[in-house]
Amino acid sequence: LAGTPALATAADFPQRPISMIVPFAAGGPTDVVARSLANEMGKVLKQTVVVENRTGAGGTLAAGYVAAAKPDGHTIFLHHTGMATAPAMYSKLRYDPLKSFEYIGEVVDVPMTLMARADLPPNNFREFVDYAKANGDKINLANAGPGAVSQLCGSLLQQAMGVKFTTVPFQGTGPAMTALMGKQVDVLCDQTTQTLPHIKAKDLKFYGVTTPERISQLPDAPTLAEQGLKGFEVKVWHGLYAPKGTPRQAVDKLNESLKVALKAPAFVQRMEQLGAQIVSEDRQTPESLQKWLAAEVAKWEPILKAENISIN
Ligand code: MLT
Repeated sequence: LAGTPALATAADFPQRPISMIVPFAAGGPTDVVARSLANEMGKVLKQTVVVENRTGAGGTLAAGYVAAAKPDGHTIFLHHTGMATAPAMYSKLRYDPLKSFEYIGEVVDVPMTLMARADLPPNNFREFVDYAKANGDKINLANAGPGAVSQLCGSLLQQAMGVKFTTVPFQGTGPAMTALMGKQVDVLCDQTTQTLPHIKAKDLKFYGVTTPERISQLPDAPTLAEQGLKGFEVKVWHGLYAPKGTPRQAVDKLNESLKVALKAPAFVQRMEQLGAQIVSEDRQTPESLQKWLAAEVAKWEPILKAENISIN
């Protein structure tokens, strides 16, 4: 943060409501985490934190907007794994994920789950593997659009299973889930924030979680890795950012309010309901997010290029 302007005193911030930019639609996986977080951070900062959804181009429009916003601490940005995958997926970005932002801290990790329409014949993942091999591109795999983590998960899944489905992109997680419920598509890999209620209600088929270990909300649900997809792992991590040049005092205050919010009973309870895992304290820092993002950008680039998972 060297070189960023200083505020006269930390008490000068915040001076008015803060906008928390969310790069995906209201009601979706990122938005539900953001609203709960904004509410708790607002209490600590004694200012309203207003969630603003700026959708489009897999989160890259919102990231570009934030990168160009006034760096005074009143614009912050909650984004997921897409922050790290975008450089490999989009040939032209108006920002550099590693240079255009200040880091506030990591927030939550969200497991993904492999779901199928209620009447798809396979009853578990092992049956699904045989079914997938027999039916290949007759199987319609939904996702929430280019650049969404559901696209990433679906692409990696096909690669790991050695199959090719027909991909059906939607305008977001909401419409993709609606199509799966309506049996217009066959399978969808998506975040527990959306799928947990359906897993509990058993109104969709559920083949496993994408995390390396089982999750506490679904202790009886096997991972895809333990059902034969060795080493398969996709989790959606979330970070909180501000435009580059945001004063250190503002970043520090935002980080303090983030840490308090991550312990607030209402936030903890909401994340439990959503299947989201609050990151450990050592990850709730600007330094940790900065290191993690750099490692993730480096990790995804060769994977996405090799798989040819790109937008343009
Ligand atoms: C969302 O909030 O809509 C999702 O996180 C999009 C996605 O699947 O990446």
